[in-house]
Amino acid sequence: MCGIIACIGRTDTVDRVVEGLENLEYRGYDSAGIAVRNDDGVAVDKHAGKISELKHSIVDELPDGTIGIGHTRWSTHGPPTDANAHPHTGETGDVAVVHNGIIENYDTLRDELTAEGRTFTSDTDTEVVPHLIEKHLEDTDDVETAFRRAVDELDGSYAIVAVAADSDTVYAARQDSPLVVGYGDGCHYLASDVPAFLEHTDQVSFLEDGDVAAVTDETVDITDADGESVSRERETVDWNAEETVKGQYEHFMLKEIDSQPNAISNTLQGRIDGDDVVLEEFPEGTFADVSAVQFVACGTSYHAGLYAARLLNKLDVPATAHRASEYASGDIPVSADTLAVAVTQSGETADTLAALRLAQEKGAQTTTVTNVVGSTAAREVETPLYIRAGPEIGVAATKTFSSQVVTLSLLAERVAEDSPVGTVRSDRAAFLDALQRIPEQIDEVLERSTAEHVCRSHVHDDAYFFIGQGTACPVAKEGALKFKEITYEHAEGFAAGELKHGPLALVTPDTVVFAMFTGGDRDTKTLNNAKEVQARGADIVAVAPEGVDLDECTDEVLRVPSTHPDLTSLLTNVQLQLVSYHAANLLNREIDKPRNLAKSVTVE
Ligand code: F6R
Repeated sequence: MCGIIACIGRTDTVDRVVEGLENLEYRGYDSAGIAVRNDDGVAVDKHAGKISELKHSIVDELPDGTIGIGHTRWSTHGPPTDANAHPHTGETGDVAVVHNGIIENYDTLRDELTAEGRTFTSDTDTEVVPHLIEKHLEDTDDVETAFRRAVDELDGSYAIVAVAADSDTVYAARQDSPLVVGYGDGCHYLASDVPAFLEHTDQVSFLEDGDVAAVTDETVDITDADGESVSRERETVDWNAEETVKGQYEHFMLKEIDSQPNAISNTLQGRIDGDDVVLEEFPEGTFADVSAVQFVACGTSYHAGLYAARLLNKLDVPATAHRASEYASGDIPVSADTLAVAVTQSGETADTLAALRLAQEKGAQTTTVTNVVGSTAAREVETPLYIRAGPEIGVAATKTFSSQVVTLSLLAERVAEDSPVGTVRSDRAAFLDALQRIPEQIDEVLERSTAEHVCRSHVHDDAYFFIGQGTACPVAKEGALKFKEITYEHAEGFAAGELKHGPLALVTPDTVVFAMFTGGDRDTKTLNNAKEVQARGADIVAVAPEGVDLDECTDEVLRVPSTHPDLTSLLTNVQLQLVSYHAANLLNREIDKPRNLAKSVTVE
């Protein structure tokens, strides 16, 4: 949700900022802008539209300079217009500010500033910040003091970066919205996410809430909320810069679907030894006093939580998955023997963080399963568990879902083994062996899938339903979410047995139903549910392991290799990812940047 990038100390700063904005466009893409500071002052160029469409005009409009700040926006206050695009300036144009998050007291501040005679030109909450800095600069020559005084007046969540005509230092502040410093060769970066500058450096420090950073080409000085000088650990990010570029692919989504074998191999690396699960983060015995597990998450990550809850229930551990926004209402009972797991790719989803914090307040043990080292979720728990999927740029989550499910499968094994109520699987060796074969089996799916052909027959249908039982149920929901997200068509995912309790009324001959089979003992029931819809004239596309007899009742079949029934749905999901991708491609949709969506949703 909005991306920030600043580059300090390069003669090609504008190019680097534009490049950073393109790398961050998945965080928001309805308008973009850049401010350059040089000896003549501060120059700003900003427009509604995508950075890919604006970059040439922005570069042409801006003067040279070695300090640049940029922003790509996903609107929260005010529609996507040129005026509402960031950077925002104050009365004089000498201060420019970019901001992620929401300034909750902006109404009051705006009224006060307006009463003092300052003029506002946008509908945004952000515009109060440059006005406040300018106001404080009337009482002090020190830009840092003015910046700090302005930040002290703000309530809400923010990552703010500001430049001023009279200073060759860039100032940044963080509160509940991520901000990372990148250490380049003779230059520094500030960004809301590492992919913004990963091509140039993997050396980073994550700012903490309350921090203010003063950054020049040579120095990074960080002070905490009390103004005390602090040092934030410098870390090396273990991500490959090649993953942040499309390369030969037309879309990041397809690149990320194709990279799943590699991503899952990384997820599994060193975590299975024979019949043993080896989680460095959680050695044997860690969960000895856990007797219930609650997953809190949103969207795709919630579906991964649903999958994991089913795995744990099979191992006799009571486990539930909760939509984080609902959980945060506080009605779910939690006790000291509850383990609450925040499942979040980005580690920054506001609803999930609120649920995590609530579980902590209520005394639960907590962890997070996340992709982003240094993310807020990772920093707010004692021990995070990383999914190691590498950066995901496509807004629709694909490889991170697969890596989440694999990580959660290992976590489920460890919890069941430790917990007084859990049971170790009788077929554990076979399960872990099957888990290790998933990367090569996904490769087989990718090579042989006929999803594109299936899509051609159904791309003009009226509605798309996805049904499954057991672990296929969360994947049915995930398949539908992915489909609606990138095709904009009506899609729903149901527990197969639920269809006849209402949704069947929606089924017509122009509906297609994707029925998911696992190779487990519930398949006969799913087949019966499929026959019920077929009798109403809908086409059935089965997604089933090799060898599962479909009784010739389905119209088309997408096969997946045979594996442990608890893992089949991981393979099924890859077929469904391809179905969504090809359908969206046939419909000419903006696959990597679907309308109205942003990858990281940092507001509740
Ligand atoms: C769908 C999708 C979203 C996210 C959700 C949670 O493709 O990407 O539904 O899964 O916004 O995001 P994280 O996992 O970052 O908390």
